[in-house]
Amino acid sequence: MNKQAITSHPINDLAINRWSPRAFLELPVEEHKLVSMFEAARWSASGGNEQPWRFIIGVKEDETWQKIFSTLNEGNQVWCKQAPVLLLACANMISSWDGGISPFYQYDAGQAVAHMSLEAVNQGLHLHQMGGFSGEKAAGLFGVPEGFSVLTAIAVGYLGDPGTLPDNLYERELQPRSRKPLSELVFSGNFGEAAAMIED
Ligand SMILES: Cc1cc2nc3c(=O)[nH]c(=O)nc-3n(C[C@H](O)[C@H](O)[C@H](O)COP(=O)(O)O)c2cc1C
Repeated sequence: MNKQAITSHPINDLAINRWSPRAFLELPVEEHKLVSMFEAARWSASGGNEQPWRFIIGVKEDETWQKIFSTLNEGNQVWCKQAPVLLLACANMISSWDGGISPFYQYDAGQAVAHMSLEAVNQGLHLHQMGGFSGEKAAGLFGVPEGFSVLTAIAVGYLGDPGTLPDNLYERELQPRSRKPLSELVFSGNFGEAAAMIED
């Protein structure tokens, strides 16, 4: 299935082809591809180079996969049962500079997952991030230490057949993707005033 971004301006092919599917092939993912995804995350930028991100990986249907699956809300379990790989994205909340809560741990971890998502496309894979899960339950199941937060769950795999999804998700899978226009996002002068270079 093709859900390439219909962009208003030219962008790179990885970003054009990245999207968040729910239908995955129940085909195992080669380990070297997953390792490359983690390597891309590792080379992401972070405030003070703190590299707060940590990941937990479960491969269908090992014990880790089952435990991550059990933390997902029902709406996500419906389609994630097809996903060959499940991840948890965690972050160290504590800044090594002053021992307080880092203002950037979520920003940094999200950025690392963004890099991972583009590397996934580079490897012929897709990933789908989820906030619909219990981070608290995941922290308990995996012995996540104090000072760390479990931020998102992530499904990874090869694009599957949308026809395998329940009707409501099948329709969502086929829906066109949409984005706010750049004029609502990029300002100059005062906040809210579209920058002159933006035409749409
Ligand atoms: C932090 C975060 C949480 C999300 N939570 C869920 C979720 O619980 N379930 C789900 O199906 N999609 C979830 N998504 C996927 C978004 O709905 C999706 O990225 C968005 O609709 C844009 O679509 P695209 O990624 O295909 O461009 C989440 C994405 C992010 C970044």
